Amino acid sequence: MTMTFVSRLQPSLLTGLTLALLLTGCGGGSNSGAPVDDDMDPPVEAPVEPDETPPLDDTPEAPVMDDGPTINLPETDQGGGDDIDLDNVDLDNVDPETLPITLTPLPAVTLSPEGISSDNQPPYFDDLTDQVIFAGQEMNLVLAPKDSSGQVPGLFTSALPPEAQYIDNFNGTRTIRWRPLQPDVGIISITVTAIDPVVPLYRIEKTIRIQIVMPEDESTIPNLPPAINGIEDSVVRSGDTVVLLVRAVDPNGTVGPLDALNLPPGATFTQHPEEDDIKILRWTTTPGDFGVNELRFRTTDAIDASMKADKSFFVRVADPSEFDIPGERLRALADARSFKFGYASVLRWYNMPDADLYAATAAQDFNIVTTENSLKWGLVNPLPEQYRWDAADELVRFAKQNDMVIHGHPLVWHRQLPQWVQKLKPEDRRNAMLKFIREVVNRYNNDIQIWDVVNEALEEDGSFRQSTWFDAMGSSYIASAFKQARLYSRNGELLYNDYDVAWENAKSDAMYSLVQSLRASDTPINGVGFQMHLTTAFTDYDSVERNFQRFADLGLDIYITELDIGIVDGGSEQQQAEAYRKVLSLCLNQPACQAYQIWGFTDRYSWRKETSPLIFTNSYQPKPAWFALQSLLQGD
Ligand code: XIL
Repeated sequence: MTMTFVSRLQPSLLTGLTLALLLTGCGGGSNSGAPVDDDMDPPVEAPVEPDETPPLDDTPEAPVMDDGPTINLPETDQGGGDDIDLDNVDLDNVDPETLPITLTPLPAVTLSPEGISSDNQPPYFDDLTDQVIFAGQEMNLVLAPKDSSGQVPGLFTSALPPEAQYIDNFNGTRTIRWRPLQPDVGIISITVTAIDPVVPLYRIEKTIRIQIVMPEDESTIPNLPPAINGIEDSVVRSGDTVVLLVRAVDPNGTVGPLDALNLPPGATFTQHPEEDDIKILRWTTTPGDFGVNELRFRTTDAIDASMKADKSFFVRVADPSEFDIPGERLRALADARSFKFGYASVLRWYNMPDADLYAATAAQDFNIVTTENSLKWGLVNPLPEQYRWDAADELVRFAKQNDMVIHGHPLVWHRQLPQWVQKLKPEDRRNAMLKFIREVVNRYNNDIQIWDVVNEALEEDGSFRQSTWFDAMGSSYIASAFKQARLYSRNGELLYNDYDVAWENAKSDAMYSLVQSLRASDTPINGVGFQMHLTTAFTDYDSVERNFQRFADLGLDIYITELDIGIVDGGSEQQQAEAYRKVLSLCLNQPACQAYQIWGFTDRYSWRKETSPLIFTNSYQPKPAWFALQSLLQGD
């Protein structure tokens, strides 16, 4: 029998392997590559370096997927699924040793930096083995790293299940306490790393697997109460349609009924077409709804109908004039200067309660939009050969309707990758990368003019970031990515994008050398994106100015791609306004600076919302920063 084990965790099975590979050294690769023929039509399918590249439709080997990421253990590793006889097992006194499931232990991986003295032995784990437990049973897994020096090694783990506790026992050991439930049945793996007390880079990694088995009698599993998720109070204009995705959740994985208790007249509450546990409220408001409206929802436990959870959604319906702003809007001012002034669009804004107000504000203030999350690999291509374009398609539609330029972000990045990509064998990663670039750029070639081709390839100290891509190809992946992007976007602006590189430091020096060498090898790169996730504590604008100039001197375009300015350390909205103004003035005064793009516009949807880093409040009121930008754009 073949068993499929579904894991709800981030990948960790291969962490050890990845790191081991990385330490065995995969230095920079070659930079060869055929020059691009400018008259050529974009080929439907063409590798960049034909002699080196296997055909792209050689799809990377895919794990079989169920309704979630799947770990398929090799046949010999799968244990005797058919042999499990769970009759008469006393759940409270189960001895996993008696369960006839065997997992071949994974070898520990030792990571040893250079220059380790021979008498320093790596740390090790005492008695750390794979676990088999029943759903409903509490696991207390003690992590006890030891070291021959007698000192206590440091310790960390890969991602734990969200409900697990990580308890410090204050004796050098830690306990992972976790009671898995029905949705956890399957195998998860956790990689634990012990850090040598003398040389911190000297480490041992051990991956353990925890198999969660369904007990014969499911009633032994505690039944926890359900809850309602996905509701945040909102403000809308009268006449707007409120869209609210209401999700019933249950830790036991069973979804009970979900009801709206006081639906306003004309509103609908319907099943989500794809997600069983979501219902969608749609309600077009009128001036008669002015003020705060409370809409109540209830879910009932699927097993025990006496368990219920209620949740209220408060929406304030306001007069549209509340959102009027005196003077010209930023977009009109930017258009008048032929200057690109932008925002990053929140993923599927049209599913937000205040979608109408969000879209109207965006259309009034911006003439360029970045895909904040809607083109990220994990979203677009979560499983091999499965693509989800809905979010990006809708953004493209909106942008065209509003005559906005579109900035595609990011093609090659080490984060927000799907599990299947992270687990690819190193030798398959190049093809996967080229294929992803082809799929995305080819699809949107007519709509997206600017691309962040490679994102965040550098570390703070200026070295190359060790990533899924670098580990497999060395730094050569960067040039390959640009060449591939050029094949499908003949005229697009191809950018390298990174953070903490806007001022002079080791990282921006490294970026300077990188783009210089890309240029020298005729790699098709047009410009550099400076993310600029700043705070009000930032002061070194002179350094930014000099830094921009040296990149401009290389003949590169400059984009401020992800600007947001968090208010920290007692900073004020006025300081924030001044910072927004300074950055804009740097851009307007630098001929190479093509665009000023803010990473969102309302604090409500900012990825750093706790620092209120954007130019509108949560309720869409312009902040001092907005007025500072207005004043500078109109030449005051
Ligand atoms: C962020 C998004 O804003 C978040 O919504 C998401 O959860 C994580 O990514 N550098 C980048 C962006 O290049 O893609 C990141 O965007 C912010 C940092």
